[in-house]
Amino acid sequence: MKHKHYFWMLALLLLVFTAACSGGGDDQASGGNDDGGSDGEGSATGKVELFSWWTAGGEAEGLEAIIEQFKEEHPDIEVENAAVAGGAGSNAKAVLANRMQGGEPPSTFQVHGGDELLAGWVAADKMEPINDLYEENNWQDVFPQDLIDMVSKDGNQYAVPVNIHRGNVMFYNTSVFEENGLKAPTSWEEFLEVAETLQSKDITPLALGDKNVWPSTMIFESILLANLGAEDYDKLWNGEIGFDDERVVQSAETFKEVLAYVNEDHSARAWQDASQLVADGKAAINIMGDWANGYYQSKELKAEEDYGWAVTPGSEGTFMVITDTFGLPKGVENPDQVKEFLATLGSKEAQDTFNPIKGSIPARTDADSSKYGPYSTDTIKDFSEAALAPSLAHGSAAPEQVVTKVNQAVNVFVSQQEVDAFIQSLQDATSSLSE
Ligand code: GAL
Repeated sequence: MKHKHYFWMLALLLLVFTAACSGGGDDQASGGNDDGGSDGEGSATGKVELFSWWTAGGEAEGLEAIIEQFKEEHPDIEVENAAVAGGAGSNAKAVLANRMQGGEPPSTFQVHGGDELLAGWVAADKMEPINDLYEENNWQDVFPQDLIDMVSKDGNQYAVPVNIHRGNVMFYNTSVFEENGLKAPTSWEEFLEVAETLQSKDITPLALGDKNVWPSTMIFESILLANLGAEDYDKLWNGEIGFDDERVVQSAETFKEVLAYVNEDHSARAWQDASQLVADGKAAINIMGDWANGYYQSKELKAEEDYGWAVTPGSEGTFMVITDTFGLPKGVENPDQVKEFLATLGSKEAQDTFNPIKGSIPARTDADSSKYGPYSTDTIKDFSEAALAPSLAHGSAAPEQVVTKVNQAVNVFVSQQEVDAFIQSLQDATSSLSE
């Protein structure tokens, strides 16, 4: 291809030019471009660049708190907060992919346990095992085995989980519910009744902000979880149950009915804008992962008084798991300092500092329960008892390519609402799972 020739010629010219400017290349070969890496001062800077998408209310403050704690413990190591805004990594993941492909990994980055980490970065051979950190810090004993499995492959551990978020939750405005004599619905039929009552009083029943699609995918996966149960829901993402299953078709029908009750401007809103509608009493219910709990807290709302919660209808006894983890990419300049940072992330102190602000529960089982509010106290208990199911919308249940295609299918469905076409596109999106 002609383009290729131009590319190589340009690359060569650039190399010659750079070598000339640097006076004959006095520092060690750095493998090409190094912007955003070492500040050009070699590997002695000790900087840890922390890549995430935590910029919204709750999560941004949680992240800052953890960085502060690390700085106190390691005043000699600089931390750069390199967060890229966009819920669920809608922008960050693309930036990360570019950097990883270009050989410029951040020191450590937010990645969901499960397929996003294992079928993605680990399978691509981009991560170092961190078994030594697990041994030194006794992590095998303090993290639940289910979480360790979500960050392990072939006997190696590749990341440390900092939290557990629950995906199958709905939050509601307590005053709106009380004023209208409503209780949290426990089935989708009840949900539709509650929604109808609210609608008849001119209150938006369900707040949705699906500018980046995934919040709609979360609603759909919650309905799937309710209709299939944790075990069969899992089989969908392993390719053992097809998307033409009757329960999936029924879930799509329910999803369609639910969509009749969302705010009209949903496709212009981000998740936190939808959560805000509930905070303001302009909408009643928000189906969202419990980072919304962190968001409400950051807006000075009080759990139980201002907002209530319940598991999404019909999903009692199950727990849609989302875990944010951090690992050590191959090729970082200062792996020792990065490991210091990872050790802090996995520590009891840091988890008990971060999670009460973030809205999540600690990944560690020995956390100090007195630090957590009523929502998280309930959730910690539920996690230990419920059947766990990995979230698709947050990358744990299936490889990234599948997640992208399912999101596309959901996006089309939300606007066209044609069940048959949706089922067909879900089958296409997931065809690689049974191969
Ligand atoms: C999820 C992530 C959460 C939270 C949320 C909203 O993917 O696991 O920690 O950041 O996105 O951005």
